[in-house]
Amino acid sequence: MFNRTCKTCHRAESKRELPILSFLFSIAISITVVKAPHFVNLALHKPTAQGPATWNNDHDPSLYISSKAVDGKVDLTSTNHCTHTTNADLTWWLVDLGVSSPIHRVAVLNRDAYSDRLRNFTIDVFQSDPKLEPIFPGNVGEICARQVDPVGSSQWVEFDCNNGSVIGRFLRLIKFGFRSMSLCEVRVLKDLCAMESRNTYRHVPNTKSLSESREVLGVFSTPMQCGLTLWQRNHHLRN
Ligand SMILES: *[C@@H]1O[C@H](CO)[C@@H](O)[C@H](O)[C@H]1NC(C)=O
Ligand SMILES: *[C@@H]1O[C@H](CO)[C@@H](O)[C@H](O)[C@H]1NC(C)=O
Repeated sequence: MFNRTCKTCHRAESKRELPILSFLFSIAISITVVKAPHFVNLALHKPTAQGPATWNNDHDPSLYISSKAVDGKVDLTSTNHCTHTTNADLTWWLVDLGVSSPIHRVAVLNRDAYSDRLRNFTIDVFQSDPKLEPIFPGNVGEICARQVDPVGSSQWVEFDCNNGSVIGRFLRLIKFGFRSMSLCEVRVLKDLCAMESRNTYRHVPNTKSLSESREVLGVFSTPMQCGLTLWQRNHHLRN
């Protein structure tokens, strides 16, 4: 009887140590993993299009072209690194990722001036080129996200695609009203560690600072790192 009680006591003590160990373990992981990038940007340097047309600049016709949103440059001191359509009721921007892929997040960088034009837009995803359909741009893909309010000047806005992921090859931003569409960068992010972890994300804040968002670029190189990320997500990000 005495022995049994003691064993139980000992077991209870071991159990009490577990949270401490897991806490220390989590600190170690926070140091090694939190700063590590989780995502790869599928859109970088991929083919793009925008409409109904690119805003014409007589001095330099290459200004404002659709590829400026995937050039990897986030210099907000000039609009030279941003796209710009003509004024129209309906404006759009499209990227071809090259292959169909799960898309977990999309991050969009707004321009500085006239920033309130970037509002009331939808991000949708298609398996095949939606431009080839006669009803384009009226066709609707799988919805990744909608944004009604204006995005702040020079700010990133980041979306969880459909609260988890959508799968597709062509990603479009389409906007009704508010003159032209201008985008300084668009990142289409796949979480290489996500596997079956659809719906494990917390809702991310609508607006992220430039420095925060810079950290989402990159690739996990080893299954070990992915394992740690998933472990960390399960033990911390859910809270
Ligand atoms: C916002 O977009 C919707 C379509 O999604 C459109 O019906 C509506 O008129 C737009 N609002 C304004 C103020 O342009
Ligand atoms: C998104 O997913 C989370 C986790 O599964 C869930 O708690 C939340 O209600 C979902 N939100 C929406 C808008 O579907």
